[in-house]
Amino acid sequence: MTSPLRILTVFGTRPEAIKLFPLVHALEADPRFDARVCVSGQHRGMLDQVLAISGITPHHDLAVMQPDQTLDELTARLVTGLGRVMDAEKPDWVVVQGDTATAMAGALAAYYRKIRVAHVEAGLRSHNIYHPWPEEVNRKIIGAIAALHCAPTTVSRDALLAENVPPETVHVTGNTVIDALHWITAKIAADPSLAGGLAELEARFAGKRIIGVTTHRRENFGGGMEAIAEAVRRLAARDDVAVIFPVHLNPNVRAVMDGALGGIANVAMIEPLDYPHFARLLSLADLMLTDSGGVQEEAPALGKPVLVMRETTERPEGVDAGTAKLVGTDADVIVAEAERLLDDRAAYDAMARAHNPFGDGKSAGRICDLLAG
Ligand code: UD1
Ligand code: UDP
Repeated sequence: MTSPLRILTVFGTRPEAIKLFPLVHALEADPRFDARVCVSGQHRGMLDQVLAISGITPHHDLAVMQPDQTLDELTARLVTGLGRVMDAEKPDWVVVQGDTATAMAGALAAYYRKIRVAHVEAGLRSHNIYHPWPEEVNRKIIGAIAALHCAPTTVSRDALLAENVPPETVHVTGNTVIDALHWITAKIAADPSLAGGLAELEARFAGKRIIGVTTHRRENFGGGMEAIAEAVRRLAARDDVAVIFPVHLNPNVRAVMDGALGGIANVAMIEPLDYPHFARLLSLADLMLTDSGGVQEEAPALGKPVLVMRETTERPEGVDAGTAKLVGTDADVIVAEAERLLDDRAAYDAMARAHNPFGDGKSAGRICDLLAG
């Protein structure tokens, strides 16, 4: 019998952890693999929330996060730290996900050691290197290195083929975020108390239309964040609306939101929710306002209209299917688009259709088979 392939899965932020826990579970359960996990700790609290709910104990934790970290310091710490772990582990494959600094640095450190890289959620492109920033370039760097590209959809596969990535290395696997959403939904069904922490807010806002808000993108810091806060303030002035806003821990987000939205009766600014509670918020919300990548994928799966507060998206599938709409960061436009959905039943119903352009919940198994070759 051949010895199992050693797979080092590397991640560091909340969205990577959510999208990789189904793969880590699958690798751990599969005798073809010796599954090893390294977290960079690019995020701390928001990463640990996902590790706790998914039951993953990393073999390595680099704990790199610094308050208000800059991209260059962060990247330097990541490449050096992840390289050391790879020297110790000598994996057959390094798996990275998406477009964060951890994913890019993990791919680069693996390349420096000529270790094969598998890229989960490959081929997303906005075709604008400053929107989202720096994620578009991170993805392109990983795309130049990876030996296996797990594209979530045919759109992302075609983007890679258009860049002359060797076709035999590109596979449409679906996005593991749908695996994660199915897993957490089943877990909450088995134990509803896991998502029971919003009960007080649910009672306080009973009878109101709930708008869920998240924002954190670096390109929206400053003016963009202020415009988003202004839009939320104007929407929350309506009697029939309540806003639930789990505020990202990035101090550049907090400073603006605390100043602009503190003390408004219909706005609940709360700490980042763990994944079961965020899934609960998605199910409660009539509408999501977000600049998040992951929320653009989860909302369509649950039939929730999502207004995307960005100039571009590398996830056109939700927009093409009509559940997501790009609205940018002009407060007037955000308010007008949200009010159209709140006041025009036909417009709302046209967007509120559950569909799954991003996957069928079976992506992790497909990726395991590709890694096993
Ligand atoms: C990062 C990713 C972004 C991803 C986002 C998901 C990069 C360059 N950016 O952005 O692609 O969409 O995560 O949320 O990789 N902080 C905490 N505790 C935490 C997390 C963050 O205090 O658990 C604070 C720290 O002050 C930290 C700052 O937020 O320095 C920024 O964190 P960082 O990971 O650099 O950027 P994000 O904006 O979170
Ligand atoms: N999420 C969460 N709690 C929150 C906000 C978001 O668990 O309070 C989840 C959400 O369900 C999605 C992921 O975090 O799966 C998105 O992460 P984020 O928006 O931070 O990053 P992005 O997807 O934009 O890279």
